[in-house]
This record gives sequence, structure tokens and C-alpha cells, in this order.
Amino acid sequence: MKILVVGSGGREHALAWKLAQSERIQMVYVAPGNGGTARDIRLVNVDMSDPVALADFAQAENISLTVVGPEVPLAAGIVDIFRSRNLKIFGPTRDAAQLESSKDFAKAFMQRHNIPTAKYQSFTDAELAHAYIDQEGAPIVIKADGLAAGKGVVVAMSLDEAHSAVDHMLADNRYGDAGARIVIEEFLAGEEASFIVMCDGKNVLPLATSQDHKRLRDQDQGPNTGGMGAYSPAPIVTPAMHARVMREIINPTVNGMAKDGIVFTGFLYAGLMIDDKGNPRTLEFNCRMGDPETQPIMARLKSDLVTVMEHACNGTLDAVELEWDRRTAVGVVMAAAGYPDSPRKGDVIDGIPPETPESITFHAGTQIVDGKLQTSGGRVLCVVGLGDSIKMAQKQAYETVDQIHFNGAQLRRDIGWRGLKH
Ligand code: AMP
Ligand code: GLY
Repeated sequence: MKILVVGSGGREHALAWKLAQSERIQMVYVAPGNGGTARDIRLVNVDMSDPVALADFAQAENISLTVVGPEVPLAAGIVDIFRSRNLKIFGPTRDAAQLESSKDFAKAFMQRHNIPTAKYQSFTDAELAHAYIDQEGAPIVIKADGLAAGKGVVVAMSLDEAHSAVDHMLADNRYGDAGARIVIEEFLAGEEASFIVMCDGKNVLPLATSQDHKRLRDQDQGPNTGGMGAYSPAPIVTPAMHARVMREIINPTVNGMAKDGIVFTGFLYAGLMIDDKGNPRTLEFNCRMGDPETQPIMARLKSDLVTVMEHACNGTLDAVELEWDRRTAVGVVMAAAGYPDSPRKGDVIDGIPPETPESITFHAGTQIVDGKLQTSGGRVLCVVGLGDSIKMAQKQAYETVDQIHFNGAQLRRDIGWRGLKH
């Protein structure tokens, strides 16, 4: 059978890599893909990203099913377009994707359904927003309502920072329509974890746990990024915590959406903040897999992903029991010079070693120009190492990282450090 993966990042390389391992696969297309998917002989890049063009392609090529990686096509309604043509696709409809595409929608939803999250208010008026900040004090968190590629959140430690974030988003219109409405919420302290499940409209199937590293530099210093590395499993999510998150967050979310008349299908990702007493709260929802969480999670998945995806599209995920590699996977992102503000493009990448059972290099911002691999985006590669402990997986990942070179590469040397503390 033929499968189509929509997207061009490290998450999509990892999904396509895993799907292509299935014996049932004739071809995996990636649209538009990257330098890594171009190089993999089992994958074929298709230079397309418009949802209607993709549906035409899926029809013409007899694609058996389509998996969507990123949020932008989901928020644009790619699932609705495919389904209206009876094409199988795994992802949320445009209505369901509002859980990610509008923070205001997500916050109102959580409040209505008693799902634990930070206290908040929404604003379109800057004066009222400033007054609310003065009333609540700092630290406080300011978020652009719409999709802002992971850049629409300011965790303000002082009132000055909070006020200027409001001015940037509402007055200067820095985020365009995405920032025409803002959410201001209570600062939550604790440790973050990523909790990702698959939903088929009836059943919920949790994936392995993981933890991201949002800050650019070691010890969680520097600016927020899309994610500088992730590892799986995350020991903070003990079996008891897992049960509690399913009971208090995931199940009420899926059931609450259904009650509101929206059947949720696709990946559902709850970004959790777990406080020092062990209470999980929801920071945000994503309606897709995480990037870079997908890379270590796919590296550990032993089950046939094609079969899992078929069940997900057919509403039979209750028949699936996922099998995971017992090892830990640590994924280290190598980012371009200037990331996250203004990543440089066009640096030549050398030294990526062949994949081994202990180490896989997934591509994100790469492309092939005149036969040479170059950087083409902020997060360039995600190098995954597998080992019997976090330490051993780290050692594998960094041994591979140290063989790879491009000018100006930025990376963290401490991916997994919170896991080592547990
Ligand atoms: P979000 O896109 O909503 O997940 O926010 C991006 C990052 O900002 C999160 O991963 C957290 O590190 C941080 N953050 C978001 N909301 C809060 C909050 N209420 N309290 C503390 N940190 C937050
Ligand atoms: N790694 C965080 C995200 O995918 O949003």
C-alpha cells in the first residue's frame, strides 16, 4: 500500500521512517519532506503543501491513508477536505484542531469541563490587559491566541516584561491575527512533561511518555524554542501519574469535545506542568505529535505503525496493544546559527553516520542543493541515541552528534537531565 505523510520537519521524517519499516508498504510519500526524506531510498518527496492539491494527489495515486504532522494544514481543514472525498486521513477536523489553534478556545473549553489548568482571562483591549496584569502581579504568562509557531508565549518574570509583551502582541500587532486576542494566565511552577495519545473518535490509545527541553541553552536557560531535545520514557510520569492524567485530563477532554458536538480524532498532546506536590495541570493542547518528542518515541515503537494507523482511521484502536523498546531514547536537536530568532540557512552539513540499532539521525531543516546536504531551517537535525539507561542513551546520542558538523551548530549537552534526577 501507499501512504502519504504531510509535513517537512523532524517529526515527519520520524513518522515516515517508521511507516516505511512495515512489510506492507509499497511507498511512503512525504509532502514536501526535507533533505533526509529525500535521501532515504524508501521515501519519496512530493513538492506540495496545499491541502486541495494533496487531496488531488492522494486520489490520483491511490493513497491508502494520509498522516498529518504539523498544525497548520490541520487548522486549515485538511482532514475535512480529505474526508469529503472519502480519503482516509488521520488527524483532527478543523473544528477539533481549535484546541491548538485558539488558546482562548482551549482555555474556555478546559474551564467548562473542569480540566485542571492555570487561571486566565482573554483580552483584545490593551488597557484592560494592562489593568489585569497590575491586579494579578508577576510572574504571569502572556499568550497570543492563534498559531505562532511556538513563539507566541511570554513567561514574564516582572511586570515590565508583562506590560511590554501586551504592547508587542496587541498594540504593535507583532503576531498579526494570531495576536489580535491574547490570553493572560497564572504562572505555574513545576516540571513539564508531554502526554500524547491517539484518538479514533471512540477509543484513546496512549503513546510512550516523553519530556521536551524548550529553552535554547543547558540547564533550561536562554529563550524558548520549538524544543531542543526530548527523551522517552519520562520517569516523572509514573504509572500512578499516568492513570491520573488519563482520568483528570485526557478522558475529560475527549468526552468534553464529544459533548460539545466535536468528535476528536488524531493525535492529542497535552503539555503538562506537574507541581511539587504531584498535581498535573494542562499548559496547552496540541492536536498533533510533538516535535522533537516524536523522534525518540518513534525510535522506541516496535509495533507496525501502518497497522496502528489503519485501526486509528477505522475506529478500532481498542484492538491495538503498542509494544515499546524497553530502552530509553534521547533525541538531541542540532539547530542552526541564529536560531530561534533568525536562523541562518545554507551551511553545508558533513559527517552524518549511517543509522545503527543504537543511533538514528532524523532531519528537519535540511535540503539537498547540487547534491550537497545543507541547512534550510532553524532546527536542522535530531540525533536519537538508544541505551539501557538515560546516561547510556545520552552517550550514544552525543557520540553521533560529535561526528556531525555544520558551521554555527547550536545544541544542548544536557538532554535528559531532569530524568537523571528522578
Ligand atoms: P505553550 O505553547 O502554551 O505550551 O507555552 C510554551 C511554554 O511556555 C511551555 O512549554 C512552558 O514552558 C511555558 N508556559 C506556558 N504556560 C505557562 C504557565 N501558565 N506557567 C508557566 N510556564 C508556562
Ligand atoms: N515540542 C513541543 C511541541 O511540539 O509543541
